[in-house]
Amino acid sequence: MRRILLGKDKVFQGDLILVNARYPYHEEYQGKNVDVEGTALAADAANALDLAMGRMDGWKNIVPVSGWRSREEQQEIWDESMRDNGEAFTRTYVAVPGHSEHQTGLAIDLGLRKEEIDFIRPDFPYEGVCQTFREHAAEFGFVERYPSGKEPVTGIGHEPWHFRYVNTVHARFMKEMGMVMEEYIPFLTQFVHGENPYKMEMNGCEVLVSYRRAERAGQTEMEVDERAEVSVSGNNVDGFVITQWMKERH
Ligand code: DAL
Ligand code: ZN
Repeated sequence: MRRILLGKDKVFQGDLILVNARYPYHEEYQGKNVDVEGTALAADAANALDLAMGRMDGWKNIVPVSGWRSREEQQEIWDESMRDNGEAFTRTYVAVPGHSEHQTGLAIDLGLRKEEIDFIRPDFPYEGVCQTFREHAAEFGFVERYPSGKEPVTGIGHEPWHFRYVNTVHARFMKEMGMVMEEYIPFLTQFVHGENPYKMEMNGCEVLVSYRRAERAGQTEMEVDERAEVSVSGNNVDGFVITQWMKERH
């Protein structure tokens, strides 16, 4: 076993942070963004998106409409939409400044390439190349973040264009469970780290997913398998999600 120590700040960082009207993004922990097709995104999300598009020759017909946004940009979009579209529309399709997934660099709005693209609600239909991307998105670590029918749960209207990077393990798990982030993050808390991990098989590897609540004060200590490749993400609420890829045993 190998011990890891995590500071409280790590609760607010990682691929699985839940960002919505209730849980703001802690921008002091902003990671590095990179460019993908002229749009800034967190490095892992950018690489995964480019890989997905490469596989389906997607950039020929799909454009990234909006990726990372600063809080100030989100405020400008909010103010402009309030002025032009009114409050009901704005609250449905624009996250309150400080609470947008776009501020994390893990969200991307995609649009069908055409002359006029609606910046707030780009066209990304459930057919053709857009649907091909949607169907394969989880294999590259993305989920459709605001699906139809989950509006009361997400607090946001149906957004066929908005995808969120959570990595391949969690995108697959979320898809299988039919859950959005607001459901998935509390759901994971039952898989207590060191006691009751969820086990799945992925690309011939055993993967363990577990949750550990953060200590109220000081660092949180936990043990992981030394043979595993480990990734830990904060949930932006109260703790950590631990993903362990078990390497082959010798
Ligand atoms: N359109 C999404 C909800 C945002 O503004 O972050
Ligand atoms: Zn979006």
